[in-house]
Amino acid sequence: PNIRKTPQGDFMRPATRTRMSSHNKKTNGVGVQVEETRICVVMVGLPARGKSLIAQKVVRYLDWLSIKAKCFNVGSYRRTATPQPAASFFDFSNTEGERLRKAAAEAAVNDMCHWFRSPGHLIAVLDATNSTKSRRRWIKERCDSEGIETLFVESKCDDEELIMANIMEVKTTSPDYVGQDPEAAAKDFRERIKMYERVYETLDEDEADMTYCKIIDVGSQVIINRIQDYLQSRVVYYLMNLHIKPRSIWISRHGESEYNVSGQIGGDANLSPRGAQYAKLLPGLVAKSAGDRPLTVWTSTLKRTAQTACHLPYEKLSWKALDELDSGVCDGMTYGQIEKEYPQDFAARDEDKYNYRYLGGESYRDVVIRLEPIIMELERSENILIVTHQAVLRCIYAYFMGVSQEQSPWMEVPLHCLIKLTPRAYKTYEERMSADVPAVSTWREKGSKAEHAQTPGPSARASPMIGAMSK
Ligand code: ATP
Ligand code: F6P
Repeated sequence: PNIRKTPQGDFMRPATRTRMSSHNKKTNGVGVQVEETRICVVMVGLPARGKSLIAQKVVRYLDWLSIKAKCFNVGSYRRTATPQPAASFFDFSNTEGERLRKAAAEAAVNDMCHWFRSPGHLIAVLDATNSTKSRRRWIKERCDSEGIETLFVESKCDDEELIMANIMEVKTTSPDYVGQDPEAAAKDFRERIKMYERVYETLDEDEADMTYCKIIDVGSQVIINRIQDYLQSRVVYYLMNLHIKPRSIWISRHGESEYNVSGQIGGDANLSPRGAQYAKLLPGLVAKSAGDRPLTVWTSTLKRTAQTACHLPYEKLSWKALDELDSGVCDGMTYGQIEKEYPQDFAARDEDKYNYRYLGGESYRDVVIRLEPIIMELERSENILIVTHQAVLRCIYAYFMGVSQEQSPWMEVPLHCLIKLTPRAYKTYEERMSADVPAVSTWREKGSKAEHAQTPGPSARASPMIGAMSK
């Protein structure tokens, strides 16, 4: 994107220049030292500019990184008093409408301030149009009085065709129009936008004292002002990488390996004959799902992923960050051997699998930290096929589908199965395609020793992964 430096602000101010507040330095969930600053991300923009989508994505990203975040959507507060308002409700000369809308904003801001009082609650996103300077000044003053920083994020877009597509995609099915004809709903929503346009004020020099990020035409230009600390710059960097072009991400584990067959973990083994058969079938499976869309394949640096991808007729990139979770001193052992030789560790891992770090190795939490650049690159990219490993795949899947840290390390991800993820507004769609090649199951249930069994074919019993919902 075209990043413009404003005279008042600068981009990615180093942490050492952070304006020090009275807050202590703490290690956050991802093991990085940050000030315990609390930030209210205030969305700004006309209706149907992607604010809610951006708000939800930011919260999901931060959650994945163990940074406690929550979205406060003023529309859902407004809906308690006015569930299905007509466009005239949003006319700024409608005094009753104005009163109810201000009351909804106040209720959301009050709840948000209350939420911030709990320890570790670091980032809230206030999702509303916040379309006038006076509304934004009011929010800033309220947050200042609570010691909460504000980061205004405006989505500005005048592409009529895109706005119309947005209305058809998400607004006609909004709770505001339940039971109404989609054409009539779209017409009313356009009227609603007109009401806002009469009073809408974009962020400009008058608000030069505020911290803001203005995203124009879905990121083709980004203006940033007074970004002050580590967390703010992290959020802004994430926002700068988002796009809404239609695309899918395919993920697959490598084909069955010799270690999978013998029940050993880690290592750098070759594919088994059945794994090699999966590698041969993979191009056909991908072509069936992706058609002739251009694709890039990402693998780890380990032999089994490169061997699985070797017949794929696309550009390939190998990433160290996609290597399997490092099992340290347990590398090359079976779960049964680990239980015998390191019984306390084996039990500790079952107790808290996400946080347990193998002696000399990694935890799931460590893997998420090293995957963060991969997620950023995935957000910037279009169609990508990732061939990787069980633990890594669980972490990537958890990001897209919003799976919790308690659940994600236990999800069953069968071998010889291609998963297609398609991000759409508010939701990621999932499709699974199994190759008809049997394989062992490497899934170990909590409390078990995992005797590897044959994968029970495509009509497998319901796994904990199936049915995991995206946020
Ligand atoms: P409202 O004010 O009515 O709540 P909103 O601004 O929150 O509207 P969303 O409900 O998030 O709008 O709209 C989602 C739609 O916006 C999706 O179709 C999505 O593709 C599209 N979209 C996402 N990001 C942007 C953007 N930066 N600019 C324009 N449209 C976007
Ligand atoms: O068994 C295959 C494997 O990829 C191992 O190399 C790795 O240690 C393990 O899966 C990760 O899964 P879990 O975290 O369930 O032990």
